[in-house]
Amino acid sequence: MGKTDRDKRASKGATISDRQSANQYQSGFGNEFATEALPGALPVGQNSPQKCPYGLYAEQISGTAFTAPRGNNRRSWLYRIRPAAQHKPFARIDNGNLTNNFGDAQSPPNQLRWDPLPLPESATDFVDGLVTLAGNGDAHGQSGCGIHVYVANNSMSTRVFYNADAEMLIVPQLGRLAFVTELGVIDAEPQEIVVIPRGVRFRVELLDYTARGYVCENFGAAFRLPDLGPIGSNGLANPRDFLAPVAWYEDRDESFDLVAKFGGNLWCASMDHSPLDVVAWHGNHVPYKYDLRRFNVIGSISYDHPDPSIFLVLQSISDTAGVDNIDFIIFPPRVLAMQNTFRPPGYHRNIASEFMGLIEGIYDAKTHGFLPGGASLHNCMTGHGPDEGTFDKASNADLSHPDYVKDTMAFMFETRCIIRPTRRALESPQLQADYYESWQGLKKKIDPNQI
Ligand SMILES: [Fe+2]
Repeated sequence: MGKTDRDKRASKGATISDRQSANQYQSGFGNEFATEALPGALPVGQNSPQKCPYGLYAEQISGTAFTAPRGNNRRSWLYRIRPAAQHKPFARIDNGNLTNNFGDAQSPPNQLRWDPLPLPESATDFVDGLVTLAGNGDAHGQSGCGIHVYVANNSMSTRVFYNADAEMLIVPQLGRLAFVTELGVIDAEPQEIVVIPRGVRFRVELLDYTARGYVCENFGAAFRLPDLGPIGSNGLANPRDFLAPVAWYEDRDESFDLVAKFGGNLWCASMDHSPLDVVAWHGNHVPYKYDLRRFNVIGSISYDHPDPSIFLVLQSISDTAGVDNIDFIIFPPRVLAMQNTFRPPGYHRNIASEFMGLIEGIYDAKTHGFLPGGASLHNCMTGHGPDEGTFDKASNADLSHPDYVKDTMAFMFETRCIIRPTRRALESPQLQADYYESWQGLKKKIDPNQI
């Protein structure tokens, strides 16, 4: 059997951690997980005994207000070699192409679409490679989101990152990644997503030579699974398919840089040991991954389309019932059996704003121009829908048999507020100036004499 890219990188002795538990996970969503990398490291029946096993320090990380209702409450207890507090003072570092200043350009109501960002030529790790395309709200108000693309060709090694501003939803599009977190290791490949909760420290190692993908910074309520209503107790993203890591730690007494995203900016503190030193933990404020290919797609089997909310994977709820801060929606392979129906997504204008990315294949409302790794933005009340080619094809399709939409995976970050592209995104060479042409060729077809 040939060597994988991961084997090749590992054999270079460069960047892959010496770890044994990379592929072990605990199944479930929002569970009270419990895991230990050393037997007996987890105290039994008490969170903070006078002396913890193995001389560990007990530390809580809370992801919700202490008094949040039990069903929403998230916190974990960590048993670690040193407390998280042990680091030198933080100092500002350059933000690179990462920003939460979404007001640096006027947002146009145009349909917008970008080609994929080119991969870097100089050494670039996951944090260096974050490029902000758009966003809304802000971390200080704990509402809204930042939308970024990452491009990387270098693993983080003695650099560890955490985000105090936001939970991070990461959507790999190219290249496999290892998220080496305080709570354990998550390997992820394109068509899987990873969610890192607010504050959890992690580094990203590349398992292939290059990587590209999307990041949604969620400033609001943590992502949760939606209620299913009349769908019943099964369907959409099933809880058992969400995987949290098992405890893993490293005991490395060497110089590390701890990079924090705090208040919209990057800060760095030096420390003399690895912050990834949690030997055991229990709780539900945890990183997790989910394989989008396991999504149980629900759709019409008679006529018409349900709204795209039927493809909802995760939601960040707002203070208004039914109006989410962010919806994470996917358009996976599926069977279209509707009769007497225009089967691709139709023309529409929504109050919600829609940022889309393409992980693989072709999105069924666009025959060309929307590329894997690219992005589109259709803001509040901006008209959009299938391009001319898609319209003609679908209007004349034979509906006597189902359409099998294969080899595709698109997604959408849908928000209640206008998604404001950054100046950098609006002036980017990847912005497709001719995107509006997608709809210019649609012919006037009305004939008042023929129904
Ligand atoms: Fe749309």
